[in-house]
Amino acid sequence: MAEKDYSRKLVSMVEIQKSFGKVEVLKSVNFEVGHNEIVGLVGDNGAGKSTLIKILTGVHQPNGGEIYFKGEKITIHSVERSRELGIETVYQEQALSEQQTMWRNIFMGREITDKLGFLKIKQQRRETEKILREQMGFTSKAINTESIVKYLSGGEKQGIAIGRSLYFDADLIILDEPTMGLSLAETKKALDFIRNVKDIGKSAIFISHNIYYVYPVADRFVILDRGNVAGRFLKSKITQDELFEKMVHLAKTGKMR
Ligand SMILES: Nc1ncnc2c1ncn2[C@@H]1O[C@H](COP(=O)(O)OP(=O)(O)OP(=O)(O)O)[C@@H](O)[C@H]1O
Ligand SMILES: [Mg+2]
Repeated sequence: MAEKDYSRKLVSMVEIQKSFGKVEVLKSVNFEVGHNEIVGLVGDNGAGKSTLIKILTGVHQPNGGEIYFKGEKITIHSVERSRELGIETVYQEQALSEQQTMWRNIFMGREITDKLGFLKIKQQRRETEKILREQMGFTSKAINTESIVKYLSGGEKQGIAIGRSLYFDADLIILDEPTMGLSLAETKKALDFIRNVKDIGKSAIFISHNIYYVYPVADRFVILDRGNVAGRFLKSKITQDELFEKMVHLAKTGKMR
């Protein structure tokens, strides 16, 4: 049999298996993300969604299976490695430093320095200003590069995290419950950021319990259920109500309708 061609997809996770002790959390999961595709990863609590994406971000090592990124077989042994590859994560408990300014947060751990290792502060401020206006599309006069992160809204923090990912040229942005705890207005902003990811030609994995947030922004849906992929649907082939119904039925009966 011919080798499968993994070069058409941005990322392919093949027969991924993960156990914590005796508990098998991912059984043999096949999961792919295409170029310029937004994939909605949905499923009940404990289905294994976060575990699956933590394998992509280098937090967990799989016990079995293979990962292909841009057609090449890779191992992701650390979070740094994952970032190097162009994979960034945004989640509600964002790793932002609350007491610091916005521009310091953007460049934290990846500071721009001159040959001698001195910080290029002016350039970092300038770049942050650019990210702020162009990538995050912030319009509020109250927000600027000197704003202390602590005083920003949840949605604005989310925006910084996504803007930072885009600036560092991530090809794949993973959003694990990015709207949790956000107000409606902030949620709308976070969803707009995800649409922006699509508009500029990048890809994303969007995990949320709220199908009404996932449905409008995703191109495709993958339902995970107790460590197995229970279904895959192109948005063009399923309505929001049908997807919702399928998930309710699955939760009730353990079976796909
Ligand atoms: N580090 C860990 N050690 C042991 N068990 C873990 C660990 N991380 C996750 N698990 C278990 O693996 C299962 C899947 O967890 P995971 O966080 O991937 O689910 P999830 O689909 O993201 O759920 P939720 O929607 O509630 O966030 C759960 O039963 C969880 O208790
Ligand atoms: Mg989770």
